[in-house]
Amino acid sequence: MKIQFTDTGLAEVKADLLVLGCFKEITKPEGMLAEADRMLDGAITELIHLGEITGAFKETTLLHTYGRMTAKRLLIIGLGETERFDSNRLREIAAVTVRSAAKTKAKKIVTELFGLGHPIIHEHHVTHSFAEGAYLASYQFAGYSSKKEEKHEIESIQFLYNKPSDELVYGIESGTAYAEATNLARDLINTPGNLMTPALMADKAVEIAKRHGMEYEILDRNEMEKLGMGGLLAVAQGSEQPPKMIVIKYKGKEHWEDVLGFVGKGITFDSGGISIKPGANMDEMKMDMGGAAAVLGAMEAIGKLKPKVNVLAVIPAAENLPSGKAYKPGDVIKTMSGKTIEVLNTDAEGRVALSDAISYAIRLGASRIIDVATLTGAVVVALGHAATAAMTNDDAFLADFMRCSKKAGEKVWQLPLFDEYKEQIKSGIADLKNTGGRPAGSITAALFLEAFVEDIPWIHLDIAGTAWGDKDELSPKGGKGVMVRSLAQIAKHYGKRGMKK
Ligand code: BES
Ligand code: MN
Ligand code: ZN
Repeated sequence: MKIQFTDTGLAEVKADLLVLGCFKEITKPEGMLAEADRMLDGAITELIHLGEITGAFKETTLLHTYGRMTAKRLLIIGLGETERFDSNRLREIAAVTVRSAAKTKAKKIVTELFGLGHPIIHEHHVTHSFAEGAYLASYQFAGYSSKKEEKHEIESIQFLYNKPSDELVYGIESGTAYAEATNLARDLINTPGNLMTPALMADKAVEIAKRHGMEYEILDRNEMEKLGMGGLLAVAQGSEQPPKMIVIKYKGKEHWEDVLGFVGKGITFDSGGISIKPGANMDEMKMDMGGAAAVLGAMEAIGKLKPKVNVLAVIPAAENLPSGKAYKPGDVIKTMSGKTIEVLNTDAEGRVALSDAISYAIRLGASRIIDVATLTGAVVVALGHAATAAMTNDDAFLADFMRCSKKAGEKVWQLPLFDEYKEQIKSGIADLKNTGGRPAGSITAALFLEAFVEDIPWIHLDIAGTAWGDKDELSPKGGKGVMVRSLAQIAKHYGKRGMKK
């Protein structure tokens, strides 16, 4: 699928599907819709009077043009209330466009440039959001069936606009990059555990790094032992699959300073280990590398868009399985930081693996850290599947991030890290225990991680409720690729503004 501009007039448009829009307050066709109405002898005016076209958000009306227009079909999309129109709605309009094209088997689509001049939408977002929505909604996991389903391929979407600014042209590029990176993350998440082992995930990371000329490093068991990474090693102990500590460095500045660190939980399958999970839906635990996928997706977007900021990605990758070699409840392990952990539940493995990844990110120069992890079932109790939970030791850093995630169209909500909760993760025989009991489970997990971040500004994103989900407007059931765009956006933000406070 190509997305580009066309400078043809409405009367000469050659398309299988021409897409025009109208806002909710519509009483008579205006602008391009009025032009189309004249060519169709007042058909649109009539449909408005009949109450069939109301402009309600995502309403679709499909008209055949019977040779009165050069476009074969005309799709009129409701844009909803003018004052509620924003880039989120624009993404959904793009999704509706793509889906209608699939229904009518349209290959060449020409569309009006929705939202240009609208007070809420920045010029660059007019094309960014549309391209993003179109590519996100087109995503389908290839799967492994021996019979391949026919997938409708759109050849091109062209914006009817003859004087595109640089901003508008760049918007297509950035929106496409964000969506393709998200779709890459979705592929990683949807890939089953036998085909997405720590070693295979490392291969994917190396592919991304090489594609964009980034430095990388994959630590194996030996090297981890030398560095004292007892946390990641303990989690991986029960599996035949060797763990990997995956590192990618993107150098967007001359010197390796002001480094934005992304740390992503990469448990390629979480059975719970000796504290084994119930069987129902355990297959979904192939998504336990959703944080790693978010980080790798973000690196892909960053590689394409090249912001002027240094970014370090660190992914602890392992499989959490029970066996005669597995780590056990009661075990005490020593992490790279020197801190010791009493393991009370082997199913709280994410925080144990992440502890070493955070320490390693600091060792490699991270001056700020954002970790992304499918960390706790408790976050689903707190926020359901609508929002990612954010926790921080630096409210100004989180405020920057929240603005970026809002721009990216991803919902994030803060949970508090009050000192009172710290009692819950104190151990009698080690520095920390790896579970804090049922109350505030997402918060105690975050406080566990905070013990390893030292005094570096840090944000923890718990995506256990948002990494995976049912079908929605912008994606099918399965991996969502959540937080790819928010991470890419904050890299872009610091690339523009710099990271100094
Ligand atoms: N990977 C899970 C969390 C999870 C739950 C992810 C649901 C996606 C959907 C994590 O490793 C886990 O098992 N956490 C435990 C922690 C508990 C033992 C303290 C949990 O949430 O039950
Ligand atoms: Mn677990
Ligand atoms: Zn897990």
